[in-house]
Amino acid sequence: MSTSPDLLPVTDRLARPVEDLRVSVTDRCNLRCRYCMPRELFGPDHAFLERDELLTFEELERVVAAFVDLGVSKLRITGGEPLLRKDLPVLLHKLSSLEGVDDVALTTNGVLLPRLADDLAAAGVDRVSVSLDALDDATFREMADTPLSVAAVLAGIDAAQSAGLTPVKVNTVVQRGVNDDQIEQLAGWARDAGVIIRFIEFMDVGTTNGWLRDRVVPADEVVARIAAQWPVDPVDGDVAHDAGGGGFGPESLDGDGRRVQVAERYRYRDGAGEVGVIASVTRPFCRTCVRARLSSIGELYTCLFASEGHDLRSLVRGGSSRAELSSVIADVWRGRSDRASELRAEGGLTGPRVEMSYIGG
Ligand code: GTP
Ligand code: 5AD
Ligand code: SF4
Ligand code: SF4
Repeated sequence: MSTSPDLLPVTDRLARPVEDLRVSVTDRCNLRCRYCMPRELFGPDHAFLERDELLTFEELERVVAAFVDLGVSKLRITGGEPLLRKDLPVLLHKLSSLEGVDDVALTTNGVLLPRLADDLAAAGVDRVSVSLDALDDATFREMADTPLSVAAVLAGIDAAQSAGLTPVKVNTVVQRGVNDDQIEQLAGWARDAGVIIRFIEFMDVGTTNGWLRDRVVPADEVVARIAAQWPVDPVDGDVAHDAGGGGFGPESLDGDGRRVQVAERYRYRDGAGEVGVIASVTRPFCRTCVRARLSSIGELYTCLFASEGHDLRSLVRGGSSRAELSSVIADVWRGRSDRASELRAEGGLTGPRVEMSYIGG
């Protein structure tokens, strides 16, 4: 079965369709980034999910298919660290084979890529995004709370490029006073390595990461610092400051003129590729948010900042058909009015919210 015409178009209360599904396959990680999984809270005593709580590959395939019937064509596999999930390529093969899925990406810390990149490519993964916050070992180790060195991540990026999981994107969460001294060095490295680096404003996701507004380095500052060394132009009019209307160029828009990427893109004038910034704090992009998130135990989250999800596991385990699942998901989506980052900008983000390591980025 492909798209159910009776269910389309499914749009939420702010007229946003559902196009991009982020699937978390585990809540575990082999790093302990202090802004994501601080060891004091995610140490030996932390109750990670049990294996039988996780959706099986067959269950995941059914749930994802139900989203595809509603218009999802982009999948991003996340964690925790998704490469820790046993036999992940088997799942990825199933998901990439679904009719209607045309982009399968994976977000990883990169450490296991040397072992797995070829299998991921063979399973139909198109590309990977690798998280890397510093090139300097001491800063990296401090931020990721790990004895590993940056070389382990760089080896993963190399492996991804060799396997054709391109373009490889690198995500860097910037925190003032922690790694903002790394910006130019990282940008210079990315230019030479042929990867697209995106600098992300530190967000107040979850409730355990010690977020302080003072620690946010505004995207404009990042762009200005990079442009001072290597002049850039916005990609085809993808001008951040036009976020209120018009202005976005074709490469960042879909066929209906909606923004499809969270990153604001800049191209180096000397031809050395592009760099991006993700300004979720200073220029929220909720208006065009077409992203749904599925936790590893099968809860649908309609926002990165939601306090709770909608249980789909009991439906899939209770024998609901693909059409029944689609219908429930469509109902949830139609009721969606989330715009948390915009509310924060307006000064009003409070209350409990899910941890990022639980639903991925
Ligand atoms: P592409 O498919 O390559 O375009 O990926 P992307 O640009 O959507 O980026 P990715 O999924 O790698 O997300 C990068 C970072 O952007 C995440 O780690 C988050 O920090 C942030 N981000 C992504 N999606 C959202 C969102 O819906 N809301 C907010 N507030 N931040 C987001
Ligand atoms: N703010 C912004 N990005 C974050 N990530 C994790 N926590 C935060 C945060 N507080 C990013 C990681 C990774 C992705 C999974 O989410 O850097 O790229
Ligand atoms: Fe793991 Fe990524 Fe969280 Fe770091 S940011 S602890 S690598 S899930
Ligand atoms: Fe989407 Fe929520 Fe992020 Fe806004 S804050 S872009 S609604 S996930």
